Amino acid sequence: MSTHLVAPSILAADFANLQRDVEMLNQSEGDWMHVDVMDGRFVPNISFGFPVLKAVKKYSKKFLDVHLMIVEPDKYIKEFVEAGADSITVHFEACPNLNRTIQFIKELGCKASVALNPHTTVASLEDIILDLDMVLIMSVNPGFGGQKFIQNTYKKLNDIKALKRRYNTELLIEVDGGVDINNAAKLVEAGANVLVAGSSVFSSPDPLAAIAALKEA
Ligand code: DX5
Ligand code: ZN
Repeated sequence: MSTHLVAPSILAADFANLQRDVEMLNQSEGDWMHVDVMDGRFVPNISFGFPVLKAVKKYSKKFLDVHLMIVEPDKYIKEFVEAGADSITVHFEACPNLNRTIQFIKELGCKASVALNPHTTVASLEDIILDLDMVLIMSVNPGFGGQKFIQNTYKKLNDIKALKRRYNTELLIEVDGGVDINNAAKLVEAGANVLVAGSSVFSSPDPLAAIAALKEA
């Protein structure tokens, strides 16, 4: 039985048929739905915001994993929780007062997570790790779906696993970007607890089977 979670990313869904795709994910073996919010400032792309999250929430039966790729996330966190987020991930690189941001998310009753860009060292988390429910390791540069997986991710998984062991915490390790059936098992073996997958699920002729395969990896 697999112990890791799979979080299909709705960034790769068909937005003109979002209800259909959310209902497909409800029927799938996927554990969460990953929701990518981009502001055109932290990343060079704009995805969607509150109305789309609310629309997903209306039909979703899964845990909503909201990944904020935005500057000044503190301004919007409360509204994202009210719109249905079960977990909020902010970027280390976007939060000058990360401790305050994390406490704020938790006070709202939401799971709190920090994402690291490919160049940000895992050691940056040492003084916040005990406050986190999850760490998201970016395995591509944030901003777009369908990019090539960065191999250095395995080294970062080793580093975060060592930090996790040193502090004896249960935090989850999520990997996001370029995840597919070819690297999923290796990522789980390297310590990933949650696999995010966008294009490898939605560009598959059989997304339900693609999700099931990631779950079995
Ligand atoms: C990228 C996003 C990812 C994206 C992954 O900035 O954070 O969650 O949806 O897409 P794939 O799986 O296509 O790399
Ligand atoms: Zn993401």
